[in-house]
Amino acid sequence: MTQRPIKESKGKLLVLTPGMGAVATTFFAGVEAVRRGKALPIGSVTQMQTIRIGPRSENRNPLIRDFVPLAPLDSLAFAGWDVFSDDAFEAASRAEVLRRHDLEAHKEFLHSIKPMKAAFSRDYVKRLDGPNVKTAKTKLELAEELRQDIRNAIAQQKADRAVMVWCGSTEIYLEPAECHRSLEAFEAGLRANDPAISPSQLYAYAAIQEGIPYANGAPNLSADFPALEELAHAKNVPIAGKDFKTGQTLVKTVLAPGLKARSLGLKGWFSTNLLGNRDGEVLDDPESFKAKEVTKSGVLDSILQPEVYPELYGDLFHRIRIHYYPPRGDEKEGWDNIDITGWLGYPMQMKIDFLCRDSILAAPVVLDLALLLDLAGRAGRSGVQEWLSFYFKSPHVERGHVQEHDLFLQHLRLKNTLRLMMGEQPLTHLAEHDE
Ligand SMILES: NC(=O)c1ccc[n+]([C@@H]2O[C@H](COP(=O)([O-])OP(=O)(O)OC[C@H]3O[C@@H](n4cnc5c(N)ncnc54)[C@H](O)[C@@H]3O)[C@@H](O)[C@H]2O)c1
Repeated sequence: MTQRPIKESKGKLLVLTPGMGAVATTFFAGVEAVRRGKALPIGSVTQMQTIRIGPRSENRNPLIRDFVPLAPLDSLAFAGWDVFSDDAFEAASRAEVLRRHDLEAHKEFLHSIKPMKAAFSRDYVKRLDGPNVKTAKTKLELAEELRQDIRNAIAQQKADRAVMVWCGSTEIYLEPAECHRSLEAFEAGLRANDPAISPSQLYAYAAIQEGIPYANGAPNLSADFPALEELAHAKNVPIAGKDFKTGQTLVKTVLAPGLKARSLGLKGWFSTNLLGNRDGEVLDDPESFKAKEVTKSGVLDSILQPEVYPELYGDLFHRIRIHYYPPRGDEKEGWDNIDITGWLGYPMQMKIDFLCRDSILAAPVVLDLALLLDLAGRAGRSGVQEWLSFYFKSPHVERGHVQEHDLFLQHLRLKNTLRLMMGEQPLTHLAEHDE
């Protein structure tokens, strides 16, 4: 990769979120708390992590945010769409992720973020219905309205530029269809109301048409098909996806590479999730669950390579279950039972019970993606940004490329891309280059 000049970050960066539910509002409130000096941006790699430059002996370890010209948090502004007309304060109160006093402290700011009318259809999210919805007749008109919303929001906030991160509900599972093959076919599909085009695809199309980087935080088909990849290249827009890697899958992609590195075998990996938020309710519908199941389950096969190691991983039984359990709210429980084999085939077990908080894990991912995609755009990078795989359960890769799921390899690639962007040498961790 060659180093390109990076445009300066000036003025405001508007972060647009289709969906203003638990994740988006926890992100808005968190950024405000951090920039007012009330909290630390824990979990945000761009804000908290350093990056080593040059040999270890030089001891140059700047914070990432000081090394690459990211938009400062003070320059962020927010806007979004939702099916419900609750403003960000009301939506955050209903989501019950943050404690009352943490929300009250930013009440005025959160009240000021009011949702624009959503491009939405129950055909794609069965367990959801709300009044704040656009009524245009064709999908093309809906996309045009979204484009106008984007322009209005940028003008209203006097923003210099924008990024969009899908924080909406998980739509039903869709396979790429004929209309996804080319931009021409997609635009014909928009005019003809092709059922293979879901609302999240309309947002992605609108963003890319407006020259705005787009990331998909959910598992549904959104920008990961040739038509929008083509548009992203034509418009010089970076895109990334899909499905934020936060709780159970994060742990899985930490552990599996470790077990594999020591040639320990695996016979079974049973993963259960209990969650009671609106996301859990939406995922209780089998068609939305199917989208999630697909992004969650590819991870182990890709890391373990059973075709290369049939004795170790050829018989792995991998199951994933998600149960909607209202008493838990956003405080999800991710159970993993792992059946391991060791020396001479002797069995061992590991049990993990991750009592996590879904949106607390997702909010810093939204922040990092917004900042890094904005950076990528200013660095002139367009199309699929594989180096952002680190943040996703099912990384969107260029056609013909293989997904990388190992968190540590993803992390190395993320940091090496930043080094290369700034004209520094990538790290190989070979002693002769390092010391
Ligand atoms: N929290 C996590 O750890 C995590 C991890 C990976 C993925 N995700 C995904 O992130 C998304 C958001 O999660 P959440 O917990 O905030 O869910 P949520 O249900 O609290 O919020 C989603 C919001 O999107 C709105 N929405 C749905 N369709 C829309 C549309 N077409 N236009 C505009 N708004 C729309 C809903 O009304 C809802 O308010 C989900 O798809 C979830 O699967 C979350």
